[in-house]
Amino acid sequence: MEVIIRDDAGQAAQLVARLIAREIRVKPDLVLGLATGRTMEQVYSRLATLHRETGLSFARVRTFNLDEYIGLPVDHPSSYRRYMNEHLFSKVDIRLENTHLPNGMAADLNAECAAYERRMREWGGIDLQLLGIGSDGHIGFNEPLSALQSRTREKALTPSTLRQNAAMFGGDLAKVPRRAITMGVGTILESRRCVMLVTGESKSGIVAQAVEGPITAMVSASALQLHPHCTVIVDEAAADGLKGKDYYRWIFANEPEWAEFR
Ligand code: F6R
Repeated sequence: MEVIIRDDAGQAAQLVARLIAREIRVKPDLVLGLATGRTMEQVYSRLATLHRETGLSFARVRTFNLDEYIGLPVDHPSSYRRYMNEHLFSKVDIRLENTHLPNGMAADLNAECAAYERRMREWGGIDLQLLGIGSDGHIGFNEPLSALQSRTREKALTPSTLRQNAAMFGGDLAKVPRRAITMGVGTILESRRCVMLVTGESKSGIVAQAVEGPITAMVSASALQLHPHCTVIVDEAAADGLKGKDYYRWIFANEPEWAEFR
């Protein structure tokens, strides 16, 4: 695992967008795992700018989102499909048939979860998985005590996640669906590369637990310590609780991979 600290949320998002852009240029048919949420909005806005201003093409890119609410029609304003269309897919040259989210309206949710795993495998697995972190340590919607080997499945959301996501439902907690389909922790760990973006002071405690604490199912993101190629990008505010800041900065300043990003 590597940790990169940027001055502010804008610079952290810009680094993530440039990293994704570099991967797409190297492999134009990249299989990209995507996340939703407020943290990612700045990444998608920067990717849209890179498409417009530098010709970065998503024409052959395939995407798989981490999760989707159960029981929200795709055209519901708070569905993750709508979020993705609004923040990224409508702004770049991606083909919608190459974009995948779990279908939270499926009649047979177990079959949908198995089919989602199958589709990922058919496309050769995820090359780069983008992740945020929930205030309870979730990645995707893998709430505390999710098995570290879990696969795509239905999951009940914790009160903390419902509160965190109420903002996207006009602040009305009662409107947030109680269940979602999410890729499992095991599914996420199989992607070839993971990039987790964390910004803001409110996430400083949980990101420190995930990066420097013990690997525990109580903090799903701590499982990323097991991943062979995981980069955690934080802003100064989110980095506040990290003990190894000087060491992380030294690595970033000296590691050849990051030369073009310094
Ligand atoms: C959503 C997802 C979640 C979010 C996390 C942070 O697809 O994967 O794990 O990344 O809840 O959300 P924000 O950025 O809204 O704080």
